[in-house]
Amino acid sequence: MRFETRAIHVGEEPNLKDGGYGDVAMPIHVASTYARKEVDQPTAGYEYARTDNPTRNALEKRLASLEEARFGMAFASGLAAETSIFLALLRANDHVIAFDDLYGGSRRLFSQVFAGNFQIHIQYVDARHLSQIENAIQPHTRMIWLETPTNPLMKLCDIRAISELAHSHGLIVVVDNTFASPYFQQPLKLGADIVVHSTTKYLNGHSDSVGGAIMVSDETLYRKIKFVQNAAGAILSPFDSFLVLRGIKTLAVRMRRHEQNALAVARFLEKHPRVKQVYYPGLASHPQHSLACRQMSGFGGMISFELDADVKQAKKFVESLRYFAVAESLGGVESLIELPALMTHASIPRKEREKIGLSDALIRISVGIENTEDLLEDLDAALATVF
Ligand SMILES: Cc1ncc(COP(=O)(O)O)c(C=O)c1O
Repeated sequence: MRFETRAIHVGEEPNLKDGGYGDVAMPIHVASTYARKEVDQPTAGYEYARTDNPTRNALEKRLASLEEARFGMAFASGLAAETSIFLALLRANDHVIAFDDLYGGSRRLFSQVFAGNFQIHIQYVDARHLSQIENAIQPHTRMIWLETPTNPLMKLCDIRAISELAHSHGLIVVVDNTFASPYFQQPLKLGADIVVHSTTKYLNGHSDSVGGAIMVSDETLYRKIKFVQNAAGAILSPFDSFLVLRGIKTLAVRMRRHEQNALAVARFLEKHPRVKQVYYPGLASHPQHSLACRQMSGFGGMISFELDADVKQAKKFVESLRYFAVAESLGGVESLIELPALMTHASIPRKEREKIGLSDALIRISVGIENTEDLLEDLDAALATVF
């Protein structure tokens, strides 16, 4: 099966035997526990719904197939998935090297919870440069944590090269693949060990569910993380599992359309005289455009940019738009816009933000799948209102 077919069929094969009804959509199994005839014989392998639930398991099978992984696991949020990786694989005094441009909530979790409370040492480096990673490796380094493209500055890192370096030192490579989605990038195939997603974004795609996912092929890693999924219990609910299963069916068509609109928006912004800089890996002007062409099969729907403006004007611009809702999050069918320094990344101290080039006036767009002309006209009108 190719990607589009797997996205529809894997995990949701109609049950035509054993008294099944042949549902073409996976039922939402709500039971918290499962009765058994004999004390030591769970029925159909199910014991308790935190451990396993048929609707969640159907999604987990599909998630694995999208990243061409052997195993998938679904969590209550992207951050719950990230937390589970830390709990499963790290101990006090371990050292983690992380890309310095990460989703603000990931940095808050790493710096304030794991470094702050659990003595896990986090070192942020500019992972665009392999030498920075190499120089950061220490005897107690265990893991390299990457996002590519990054949120919000759309920086890329070379997953294959970093994985080779990491494996030569016995380190685990984790890639947050939320921005690209498995439709445009498959980190495990490039050598990464663990892929993590906020399913809240493109995988669900409709801004109506919060969830997370982990995909791995190594069975030892799977067993350790699966143990924590049950032991700590940050699982995705059956209803959310149903929503994400449904959303994923259209992932391929949505991603192609997100990209088509994003390219149009990026080109429009790049030509506008009041736009200073556009960050979109699909533009030839992106400093890592050739890496994007090599490692991704498309460039996605996320753009960030700088107006020739102060924060007040940037705020006025986003508040003047008609179709772009001013909101956090991304990856839904509707266009969203925000100022990361004041919203999604506000928890990162200003000094740290400045170090990575995240200015207060930076604007991030999650380009939706609306009519392209409507989006361009809306942007044009809002720019005219400010300037
Ligand atoms: C790249 C990235 N990773 C992880 C997360 C966290 O996911 P969640 O909000 O589902 O916990 C987000 C949320 O915005 C994100 O953008």
